[in-house]
Amino acid sequence: MNILSIESSCDETAVAIVRNGTEILAHEIRSQIEDHRLYGGVVPELASRQHLEAIQPLIQSTLQAAHLSWDDIDAIAATQGPGLSGALVVGLTTAQTLAWLLDKPLVGINHLEGHIYANFLAFGQEIAFPLLVMLVSGGHTQLIEMKNHGEYVLVGETRDDAVGEAFDKVARLLGLPYPGGPEIDKMAQQGNPFAFDFPMSLPRDDDFSFSGLKTAVLYTLQDLEKSGKPIPVADVCASFQRAAIGSLLSKIKRYLKHHKVSALSITGGVSANRYLREELADFAKKHQLKVFMPPLNLCTDNAAMIAACAFYRLQAGLAQPQQEALSVRPRWPVVIKA
Ligand code: KG4
Ligand code: ZN
Repeated sequence: MNILSIESSCDETAVAIVRNGTEILAHEIRSQIEDHRLYGGVVPELASRQHLEAIQPLIQSTLQAAHLSWDDIDAIAATQGPGLSGALVVGLTTAQTLAWLLDKPLVGINHLEGHIYANFLAFGQEIAFPLLVMLVSGGHTQLIEMKNHGEYVLVGETRDDAVGEAFDKVARLLGLPYPGGPEIDKMAQQGNPFAFDFPMSLPRDDDFSFSGLKTAVLYTLQDLEKSGKPIPVADVCASFQRAAIGSLLSKIKRYLKHHKVSALSITGGVSANRYLREELADFAKKHQLKVFMPPLNLCTDNAAMIAACAFYRLQAGLAQPQQEALSVRPRWPVVIKA
């Protein structure tokens, strides 16, 4: 089954064609990062306009890159939410129109569930349940126990900022360009992670919190400025990263003390973080646990994960291909805390 998928929930217009949920036939992304960088973050109006300009040529070039024609496409999938509503409308309406014109089934996909399926796309049958998933992106930080396809139990989530948002905000304080996550990751390579003792905010239960850490960095920078000392940017990055990623890891460890899972999985933009990947791989090795991490190009937003998710949902009978109109769902949790 060949699924053509569209992702437009934030600042990346992406189109992919994936065969049977695992084989990427073509995978194209038009990033708007340069356009938003000027403003230090995503401007929703600008995002919608850019999606509108990019989407049709991108669909054509993806079909060409896959050497396929419309007759070879069995279903269309698109991100239905969560995300910026104007941005979502562009992708979903395009997908809906294609489905009607070509008389193909349409599947609306939850973007967060899409991120989870980036690992199924990459590792397919290797993944066994129950799977402990840490979803870490610019908008979400959630620890989820995935019991089966489509069956999620929310273990914990952030009480304030998402971890990616904390990376972006700290980078901004340091004058680094948007998006800040990759910049901090890069700078941290040359820094001393123990130069500053930033607090690892650890609420007592399975939840996360990052606003205290962000404020601690702000106060440290203000003190340094007042004292007239130069800001050791690389040291701040490495120390912040140690605290932020450390708190993610400590929640995984805490959960595993009392729960048995078959494997671990991380996904979402922050799962591209080098320090997180190294530390988690070390931990998993020590505890003889398998850990799945998406290849770097599938960590951040892309459409291939949306096609993979649609494939597995259709296979498991969890998605009914739609013929009637779908509406965007800008706020749409993948799981609700039990
Ligand atoms: O999943 P994603 O592309 O979009 C959302 O659904 O939010 O995640 C984007 C987030 C941004 O906050 C970005 O700074 C962060 O992922 N990010 C990283 C890295 N690469 C992207 N954070 C830390 N280290 C990285 N290498
Ligand atoms: Zn995302």
